[in-house]
Amino acid sequence: TYVVTEACIQCKYTDCVTVCPMDCFFEGPNFLVIHPDECIDCSICVAECPVGAIVSDQDVTSEQQVYVELNRTLSENPAWTRISQQKAPLPDHEYWATQTDKLALLQK
Ligand code: F3S
Repeated sequence: TYVVTEACIQCKYTDCVTVCPMDCFFEGPNFLVIHPDECIDCSICVAECPVGAIVSDQDVTSEQQVYVELNRTLSENPAWTRISQQKAPLPDHEYWATQTDKLALLQK
């Protein structure tokens, strides 16, 4: 399965959702996740993300490992809703796209 990782936090470009044939992205306040049981491993979304946030769970780094579980738990959080239409990115996306260590900013 594919997972959304840290680069998405505070950016949320949402280009990814427009190409997903399964509509398996879920949206929170400042991050998106992929439902691991719905993702069919097509990989089309990977190239759509301007910040390279989407990676295969086979390729996550040790720092990205936490996102594998986060994609599952947050996609099953009732407060997170399915998203299939693109929307404007978050207001300060240009700044946050250059930042790392954003996990503490993740709003659930
Ligand atoms: Fe996030 Fe990239 Fe999609 S920033 S919302 S994973 S296009």
